[in-house]
Amino acid sequence: MLKVGFVGWRGMVGSVLMQRMLDDNDFAGLEPVFFSTSQTGQPGPDIGMDVPALKDANDIAELKAMDVIVTCQGGDYTTAVYQPLREAGWKGYWIDAASTLRMADDSVIVLDPVNRHVVDAQLAKGTRTFVGGNCTVSLMLMGLGGLFEANMVEWMTSMTYQAASGSGAKHMRELLAQMGALNGAVAQELATPSSAILDIDREVTATLRSSAFPTDNFGAPLAGSLLPWIDKAMENGQSKEEWKGGVETNKILATGSQPIPIDGLCVRIGAMRSHSQAFTIKLRQDVPLDEIEDRLAKHNEWVKVVPNDKDQTIEQLTPAAISGTLSIPVGRLRKLAMGGEYLTAFSVGDQLLWGAAEPLKRMLRIVRE
Ligand code: HSE
Repeated sequence: MLKVGFVGWRGMVGSVLMQRMLDDNDFAGLEPVFFSTSQTGQPGPDIGMDVPALKDANDIAELKAMDVIVTCQGGDYTTAVYQPLREAGWKGYWIDAASTLRMADDSVIVLDPVNRHVVDAQLAKGTRTFVGGNCTVSLMLMGLGGLFEANMVEWMTSMTYQAASGSGAKHMRELLAQMGALNGAVAQELATPSSAILDIDREVTATLRSSAFPTDNFGAPLAGSLLPWIDKAMENGQSKEEWKGGVETNKILATGSQPIPIDGLCVRIGAMRSHSQAFTIKLRQDVPLDEIEDRLAKHNEWVKVVPNDKDQTIEQLTPAAISGTLSIPVGRLRKLAMGGEYLTAFSVGDQLLWGAAEPLKRMLRIVRE
């Protein structure tokens, strides 16, 4: 039986992964071993089967006994443990949510509904390191896979509206604390229909700018505002999140020496766990919209083309509509005023599911095949 070690299973992405594996009975037929960086020796989680006590996630000898290691522990852990483990001669499958190893020559970014052929080819070549992609990239490709599969995209911009969860659990709490602080600052006026909206707004703005406003995690107000910068700065003016959009998409698609230019602006907004993106897509040819919709809809079983009308858009194409589900709605599809080769689209996806846990869960299934 395959011995699978899980690290970082208690964090936000890890918890979503555990739940998805329980939903689909994925632990059956495995020998799961749970690791911890702080609670070695304590009982493992309740997954409906006997599991050994927690093992030390930094113990190379214990890790080496695994056939597969699935980690959602984060980049620092990967940096600390991966190389020593490989140097100790470990030849198992490393399945990782962190970005550390994504662009390494000997790793594959996994998103099997889009790049199963790449995954299979690399498995056949002996690749043993599989990494989940950046969430906006994975969600974009799940939505637009049909266009890339048909090699219809000459270049693309992606303007993102990214949820708080992409920064982590503490950030989600802070967003809610910020929302509460804003509401609390004007609760009395809100309850008085005759109060002047500009007075309310003045109080809200003063609260946003107050030193007492909770911003320890985001560093600035997000509720009632937005943050047009995600992750570190690259040297060319891109944020690292924007850089990932181009390099990771091309690595997932294995475009090799003919990369598709993909760039844009990444923005944090006050959604909880679903990222949205607006695309400008330069098509290689003026393809009719109905053919485009057909290709998008047929690409995978989770994408859903939303007709470009107001009612269906605001009902189906929002974080509120799809959070907690695997659905990837794509809508606002129309040709832009620039001409028939210019397509716009908007998509939404749960950042913790297809954006993080789901590709790893599926990769574990693939290595079992
Ligand atoms: N970097 C992403 C974000 C999340 O900040 O939203 C992980 O891919």
